[in-house]
Amino acid sequence: MLKHLLQISDLSREQIEQLILRAQYFGINSPNIAPSLLSKKGFLSTLFFENSTRTRASFELAAHTLGIKTINLDINTSSVKKDESMIDTFQTLAAMGCRYFVVRHSESNILEKIVSEHPALSSACHFVNAGDGHHAHPTQGLLDMLTIYQAQKKSEIDFSHLRVGILGDSVHSRVAKSDIVALKLLGCRDIRLIGPDSWLVEPEEYVTSQTNPLNKSVMEDLDVIITLRVQKERMAYLDLALLNDYVEHFQLTSERLKWAKPDAIVMHPGPINRGIEMTSEVADGNQSFILKQVSNGVLMRTAVLEAMSEVRTE
Ligand code: NCD
Repeated sequence: MLKHLLQISDLSREQIEQLILRAQYFGINSPNIAPSLLSKKGFLSTLFFENSTRTRASFELAAHTLGIKTINLDINTSSVKKDESMIDTFQTLAAMGCRYFVVRHSESNILEKIVSEHPALSSACHFVNAGDGHHAHPTQGLLDMLTIYQAQKKSEIDFSHLRVGILGDSVHSRVAKSDIVALKLLGCRDIRLIGPDSWLVEPEEYVTSQTNPLNKSVMEDLDVIITLRVQKERMAYLDLALLNDYVEHFQLTSERLKWAKPDAIVMHPGPINRGIEMTSEVADGNQSFILKQVSNGVLMRTAVLEAMSEVRTE
């Protein structure tokens, strides 16, 4: 049973493995739900204070798969714009029967605060973090683990031998942080951060090995390359010269990809800035798992919502 999902470290290794296997199951079998069993448990509301395509759409699709009704609160036309507090917005929706809140916000740890300061609301409703500042994006971390698991083409979940490169702006990336925690929980022992110095997350906090340049030796034996979006909106400063420098030294091109294992997979959480983080040739090439990540997003979010709903579908 899962009450809230605010960050990957809320989960045990066993829970992550169960979610991966359950999401994998949903890729093969449609859930068979007793009529309106789940809809009796209230509706789901998406509240996105930051933009989204994949995350919001996939949560809605996942809820519909399980028979849960959804309401997307359009922040720009809601009473948030009349300065209604976030907690009043949650309480209003909860009074109408909302039991699942899927929230994206620019402030790190915002849901942790809501959950700890409002026990009645947090015991009545489930909260899912759909990305908070540069802190965490747990369902993206989980769907990335599902994608890596599938690429191994083995039935058991064994990440102990994997070598994973995380390329780009990890310091501003909630995806990188959730991926690193998930990889570590699953036993991955070689996580390499690659990118310009000032864009690398603090190594002692998260990483097993850290490296700057994108070169043959760091790429050579990689099984997985997770590329990250250059997160301009979270940077204090980014000019054209810096961006050009990034493209010159860190863009994933077909030539650089050839340094990795021949069957290495390329991932990116999206949205991609084509021509910056990678070339279109790589993004659309046969090692790219980017669209697989997108479809896995629906499967993983279905598994997460099912685990919260306490109703086991068959
Ligand atoms: C990411 C996000 O918003 O954190 N996108 C996503 O959810 N697929 C990554 C990003 O925007 O950089």
